[in-house]
Amino acid sequence: MSATSVIGLQWGDEAKGKIVDLLTEQHDIVVRYLGGNNAGHTVIFGGETYKLSLLPAGILHDSVVSVIATGVVINPKAFLEELGRIVERRGNVPPERMLISDRAHVIFPYHMAEEAAFEKARGGDAIGTTMRGIGTCYRDKAGRTHAIRMGDLINPDRLRRRLEEIVPQKNRAIAALDDDFVPFEVDVIYEEYSNYADQLRPYVTDTTSFLHKAVAAGKKLLFEGAQGCLLDIDHGSFPYVTSSNSSGCGIHSGSGVSERVISKMIGIVKAYTTRVGGGPFPTELDDEIGQHIRDVGNEYGTVTGRPRRCGWFDAVATGYGARLSGVDCIAVMLVDVLDGLDEIKICEAYDFNGVRTTDFPSHVEDLAQMKPIYRTVPGWKTDITGIRKRADLPENALKYVETVAELVGYPVEIISVGPDREQTILE
Ligand code: GDP
Ligand code: IMO
Ligand code: MG
Repeated sequence: MSATSVIGLQWGDEAKGKIVDLLTEQHDIVVRYLGGNNAGHTVIFGGETYKLSLLPAGILHDSVVSVIATGVVINPKAFLEELGRIVERRGNVPPERMLISDRAHVIFPYHMAEEAAFEKARGGDAIGTTMRGIGTCYRDKAGRTHAIRMGDLINPDRLRRRLEEIVPQKNRAIAALDDDFVPFEVDVIYEEYSNYADQLRPYVTDTTSFLHKAVAAGKKLLFEGAQGCLLDIDHGSFPYVTSSNSSGCGIHSGSGVSERVISKMIGIVKAYTTRVGGGPFPTELDDEIGQHIRDVGNEYGTVTGRPRRCGWFDAVATGYGARLSGVDCIAVMLVDVLDGLDEIKICEAYDFNGVRTTDFPSHVEDLAQMKPIYRTVPGWKTDITGIRKRADLPENALKYVETVAELVGYPVEIISVGPDREQTILE
């Protein structure tokens, strides 16, 4: 029982990266177990900003081993570029500090092409993906016949055989969707990906076995969630979700480590709500307050630069995410972004055709009908970014955080009042 997990309870971008960075030094191994380079985790300390996408935030600490486990989908080019940027700034990362699962699936250029064609075909109903080939790679994983795993990538014969079988089929399928499509050539992809394979081979291993041994040896594991509960493929606001289990449900399947080793599951929540991409968003603020939150919170996507949709805190959606993941406590982040507001609203229930409910609906058609029932609380109109103790927070700020916790149903352990590692209230 020596593992901790950090899970986003909303639609992603809850500032998981900041908390993972903060907790890393108390752990031996940091594990990314889902998603891919659709994630964007910003970590700031000592005046330096790091933007991590596919690499676990643990990579910023020399003392820990970073693991990209089985449930992650890997774009090798993106991995090597990101690792290159880290090496440039922080020095070499030896393979024994960065392990990649041989079972993880590989993203190829045809995944991006397929995704672009699928999204285009949906027109105004597009999911609004990050266009990184995430969903189409997971689709091939679930479909099995067109999948290529890291263990295949690093075996030249297997890679060529798989590409010779798959690429002509992909070409026919994508051409049927897109008149302007230029077919992929097996030789070109093979050459490019063989080159990546040569660079990646030292990092690729059976991470499941590595993690089992680490657990048996009493090592401390930190599971770094990506995305958020409401983007979970099974339990989120389907189909406006990502293609993996991004709630706490995904830890076991994505890492191969039983969640029974986790002694603490921390749910990360933003003091308001944001979403990138399509789909209903009951508390969305399409007005000057929404724009104020976007400006003050710098709510622009790390990966795609898209303006994030902003709205009031939704305790129905977040409480659902928290129960789904089975958290022990929550961290309330970006509270300082609300500093300038006269009053703040919290959605405590939905009105669904005249009936009050605190259940998060199964279907987005119903989510689109939900009218938020708000509790309005006074703002604090004070700059809290320099505060380091709960007792020093303005009364209304503390009350706000406590109301959020009460409505979500779990205690607050961490309050964040700025992007820097230091701007954190732990006591
Ligand atoms: P993640 O994907 O969950 O790791 O979150 P992101 O990194 O995508 O988005 C969170 C953003 O908020 C990042 O730019 C962080 O630097 C920033 N941030 C984190 N905590 C705070 C905070 O308490 N206050 C403010 N103003 N910004 C924060
Ligand atoms: P982090 O880890 C916010 C969203 C996309 C889109 C949907 C599907 O930084 O919190 P995908 O490319 O995964 O098929 O897109 O999921 N999305 C995220 N939104 N934060 C993320 O990651 C996200 N990763 C995917 O915007 O709506
Ligand atoms: Mg993010």
